Formats: sequence, C-alpha cells, structure tokens
Amino acid sequence: MCRPDVGALAILHALWLFLPAYVANMSPVFSAKLMPKWSRPIDGGKTREDGTRILGDGKTWRGLVGGALAAGLTALAMAGIATAAAPSWLDGWDLGYQVEGTCAPTEDCEVRGASLLAIFGFGAIVGFFALAGDAVESYFKRKSGRPRGAPWIPFDQLDFVVFGLLGMVAASPLLPDGWVFDALLGDWLILTTLVVLTPALHLLINRIGYWMGLKDVPW
Ligand code: CTP
Ligand code: MG
Repeated sequence: MCRPDVGALAILHALWLFLPAYVANMSPVFSAKLMPKWSRPIDGGKTREDGTRILGDGKTWRGLVGGALAAGLTALAMAGIATAAAPSWLDGWDLGYQVEGTCAPTEDCEVRGASLLAIFGFGAIVGFFALAGDAVESYFKRKSGRPRGAPWIPFDQLDFVVFGLLGMVAASPLLPDGWVFDALLGDWLILTTLVVLTPALHLLINRIGYWMGLKDVPW
C-alpha cells in the first residue's frame, strides 16, 4: 500500500477514515426532517414490564436505513476525492480503490483495487453498525431509567465509535487484503484520535445542530 508515514497527519487521517461513521451518526436528524412521516420506531412501540420503552421513538428504521445509505455514499465520495482530487495528504487513503497507486478495478492487473460497489457496501456496513450501536446505547439508557433525549456521557459519544470500528472490521473483507487493519493500526495515533477526539467533536457538532434548530437538546 502506498501510504506515506502518517506521523503528525494521523489526526486528519483518523477523522477521514471515520467519515462514514460520523456522517451516519449525524444523518438521522436530517432524514427526520426529510421524511417526517416515516417515523416507525425500531422497537415497534414495545414497552418493558415497568412501562418504559425498549428503545423509544428516537430510534427509527428511517434513521438506520438513511444512515447506512449516507455512509455508503460518503465512502464512494472518499474514494472519488482521494483518487480524482488526489491531495498528497490523502495518498493511499482511497479505501483501497487503487492498490499501489496503479491498479484501478477496471485495469487488467494482478492486484485489483476494491470495486465501487464494494466501497459503497463497506461504508453502508460501517454506517449501519454505528447506528446499531446508537440503538444499543438507547436500550441500556432506557433500561437505566433515562428518558429519550436525556444525556448519558460518555456513552452517547462513544457508542458509535465502538460499533463503527466493529463495522470496519466486519466489512474489511470488502476492501483489499489488509487495507482496513493497516489503516487502523498503522499508527497508534489513529485509534487514539478516534477514541479521544470523537466524543469532543460529537458534543460540539450536537451543540451546532441544536443552535441550527436540527436537534431538540444540545447534547
Ligand atoms: N433518529 C432516528 N433514528 C435513529 C437515530 C436517531 O430517527 N435510528 C433521530 C430521532 O429523531 C432522534 C434524533 O435523530 O431524536 C437524534 O438522535 P439521538 O440523539 O440518538 O436520539 P434521542 O432522541 O436523543 O434518543 P436517545 O435518548 O434514545 O438517544
Ligand atoms: Mg441522544
């Protein structure tokens, strides 16, 4: 893989690598605005014995499906930007679309890059996992008696990081051999950035969404 030594760029690379999960996690507030009528909750309205909801009305199929699609499109855009615009700091960070910088999927060569379909699928799986993590968090949030929209720091911030990473591992066979693991483990700063910086970013972005009237609560 022709990826330069990440070094100080690792923070940027970590944010780049996790873009599908970030987009998935932000997308439900937009799909809620776009499709207000499709609000079927994942838990089907079911409640526990004590009357509290299993997940709540804040976890919809619309959010889950929309988030997976948005993350898939994000992955395609990433491959496109890293390949076509090709800024030097993104050299090799194209989700394996081109391997060794020479083999596009259309070229007849031994080592092939990932197809666009595989890259879309990779992003969609990462997005699906990230939002499944968000729903799992809501399950435990409801179980612990916290109502919909109540803050639960740091779990609100870390759920999609953990599940997004699991999604990257689960979807890794779609990209060229070893691409995902090299990208995640090539520099210790990548994983560290994701775990440390993402919660802070999450809080900041939610506050912006609240100011813009997209979210009901600032966390
Ligand atoms: N959303 C959705 N479907 C999802 C996830 C989120 O429709 N699978 C939408 C809901 O409108 C939700 C909003 O995005 O209110 C913000 O998401 P989030 O903060 O995760 O939900 P909360 O309403 O805060 O609910 P919870 O306490 O369960 O996290
Ligand atoms: Mg919430």
